[in-house]
Amino acid sequence: MGYPTRRHHSLLTRLPAILLLGACATSISSATKIPLNKLHSRGNRYQWKRDDDIGNGSETLNTVLLSNVIDQSYTCNITLGGKSVEVQLDTGSSNLVVPGEIPNSKNLSIPLNVTYAGGNGTGYIETAELEFAGYTIENQAFLNAAVSQLSSGTSGIIGVSIGNASSIRYALNSSAGDTVLDSIFRQNSTDSTNNFITLLLGHSPLEYSNSGSSQPFLENQENVFTIGEVVDGYEQIYSSPKLPIALQTPYETLLDANGVIGPDGKAINTTSLYGNSSQNDQLSVLLDSGTGVTLLPKDVVDSIYGRVPGAQRIVNASDLNPELASLPTLWRLPCTYEVNVSFSFAGQQYPLSPLDTSLNLTGYVGIQDSQDQDICIGGIIEIPPNFINPTKLGAFDAILGDSTLRNIYMLHYFGSFVDGSNSSTPEPYIQLLSTYNATAAHLDFVNTRLGGVDSTGSQPSLLSN
Ligand SMILES: *[C@@H]1O[C@H](CO)[C@@H](O)[C@H](O)[C@H]1NC(C)=O
Ligand SMILES: *[C@@H]1O[C@H](CO)[C@@H](O)[C@H](O)[C@H]1NC(C)=O
Ligand SMILES: *[C@@H]1O[C@H](CO)[C@@H](O)[C@H](O)[C@H]1NC(C)=O
Ligand SMILES: *[C@@H]1O[C@H](CO)[C@@H](O)[C@H](O)[C@H]1NC(C)=O
Ligand SMILES: *[C@@H]1O[C@H](CO)[C@@H](O)[C@H](O)[C@H]1NC(C)=O
Ligand SMILES: *[C@@H]1O[C@H](CO)[C@@H](O)[C@H](O)[C@H]1NC(C)=O
Ligand SMILES: *[C@@H]1O[C@H](CO)[C@@H](O)[C@H](O)[C@H]1NC(C)=O
Ligand SMILES: *[C@@H]1O[C@H](CO)[C@@H](O)[C@H](O)[C@H]1NC(C)=O
Ligand SMILES: *[C@@H]1O[C@H](CO)[C@@H](O)[C@H](O)[C@H]1NC(C)=O
Ligand SMILES: *[C@@H]1O[C@H](CO)[C@@H](O)[C@H](O)[C@H]1NC(C)=O
Ligand SMILES: *[C@@H]1O[C@H](CO)[C@@H](O)[C@H](O)[C@H]1NC(C)=O
Ligand SMILES: *[C@@H]1O[C@H](CO)[C@@H](O)[C@H](O)[C@H]1NC(C)=O
Repeated sequence: MGYPTRRHHSLLTRLPAILLLGACATSISSATKIPLNKLHSRGNRYQWKRDDDIGNGSETLNTVLLSNVIDQSYTCNITLGGKSVEVQLDTGSSNLVVPGEIPNSKNLSIPLNVTYAGGNGTGYIETAELEFAGYTIENQAFLNAAVSQLSSGTSGIIGVSIGNASSIRYALNSSAGDTVLDSIFRQNSTDSTNNFITLLLGHSPLEYSNSGSSQPFLENQENVFTIGEVVDGYEQIYSSPKLPIALQTPYETLLDANGVIGPDGKAINTTSLYGNSSQNDQLSVLLDSGTGVTLLPKDVVDSIYGRVPGAQRIVNASDLNPELASLPTLWRLPCTYEVNVSFSFAGQQYPLSPLDTSLNLTGYVGIQDSQDQDICIGGIIEIPPNFINPTKLGAFDAILGDSTLRNIYMLHYFGSFVDGSNSSTPEPYIQLLSTYNATAAHLDFVNTRLGGVDSTGSQPSLLSN
């Protein structure tokens, strides 16, 4: 196989302000971890059936429970060299990067730098025994380094993307440098059927806890990562269309032609720079749990939020509050305006909750504007120009990060992308199952943003485009 040509491909990013708020970020993230014992105490539509299995998050079959860090990242615990370490789960990269001293490890003395869209780390490649998702890997290669500026309050990352985007695999140039998933999948090379992962992301209780809402719905969805199995109750995902993998990166696939449905329910014209060259109205998108928000081309973002009465495009967020100086260009929205947006893949629509198209930034970081007003911003942000440089981060038009993935259960079958696979191994694909419930999503918006009184029927009409 053409293995590997890319030195690094790393897309771990998120809304920078949230992490650049220094001490604040740490206290927020530790305060908002969802207690795991809460997950099965609630009766709701997302109830996970294996109640008896929910415990310390590392023991059930091949399932890992994740912590939601203020809706901007999702973390889990791995055991490396016998030590438990909390790391951020990233579907947009493929190295394992772990800070601090790891016991029982072997230092290969090979130096490596990793660069993410929002941070970086420098250290040496080591190997140690890894326990993750019910699997044990004897000599898992990892980079012993702390990644700067992660929003998760951790400085380690487990990249669960394909192998040939791994700079550790590249540096070792052998299966000794296999990624965590390659190591796991190669434990049974006779059958590739179960060489897939799934990811189910929930909403942070943060916003709901501020709302006085007694019955928030979206919060109840659990945060679960699985290997080779589907979460109980979500088997329907097997019937979802199999989306082919677009070139270059693992989770990159194509939206339908003009596959962003705007707030008026109509398709927005889209033009791809990097997608299918024979059909350039399909955006190529990366489904990336390491990015907190959703990043789309500027013209598409403007077509969405430019139609919201009272919305403003803010180039310098420091105009709102000097502490927000590090934020990229964004749209500020009236907090009470409900905005609905959907994506379309293979003819199926995947709507976003209005609490994901509009984020209460004040709720997340405790910062208001100079008039002491709450700040709500679009959860869809124009993709910064430096992200769409194909020679650096990759060739894609958009990143569908956590604000999208909280509304979709995702399965990624790796097939022939697994290191060492042969030509008879099936091609990889992605399947997506909407977890959106229109009634629940709307009610949660009404309860959190409108004090429980549904005035959306009389909200001002969208502006014309
Ligand atoms: C990664 O591996 C796949 C499968 O072998 C291949 O099609 C793809 O071109 C490779 N990508 C890179 C960047 O090497
Ligand atoms: C997690 O739970 C399992 C089964 O309940 C137990 O065997 C294991 O030791 C626990 N692990 C930790 C780290 O507590
Ligand atoms: C990870 O371990 C820490 C410390 O033991 C614990 O507080 C946290 O809840 C664990 N996270 C998960 C997702 O299990
Ligand atoms: C690993 O080896 C390198 C080079 O030999 C050394 O500089 C580095 O400190 C070692 N790392 C640890 C954690 O000991
Ligand atoms: C890593 O980055 C440091 C600082 O920029 C540089 O000095 C070093 O040479 C780099 N190491 C590698 C292996 O690229
Ligand atoms: C790595 O991150 C630090 C901030 O933590 C920054 O100063 C430095 O320029 C970054 N290095 C690279 C190579 O991006
Ligand atoms: C990597 O290993 C292969 C053989 O497995 C070899 O052909 C190739 O030249 C090596 N690449 C580098 C950069 O060392
Ligand atoms: C590999 O997978 C096949 C089919 O699922 C199974 O029958 C076999 O027991 C597995 N082997 C190992 C070593 O797990
Ligand atoms: C979208 O594209 C269609 C077909 O090319 C065109 O007729 C229409 O005017 C475009 N709409 C906008 C808003 O640009
Ligand atoms: C690219 O577009 C062509 C023409 O519409 C189509 O036949 C082909 O299947 C597309 N490729 C992908 C990867 O969607
Ligand atoms: C945003 O969150 C803040 C802080 O928790 C809360 O006080 C406020 O009511 C929320 N604002 C809106 C408009 O929901
Ligand atoms: C959608 O949410 C509503 C309100 O919470 C609930 O009554 C209904 O059962 C849910 N529908 C499905 C299909 O889960």
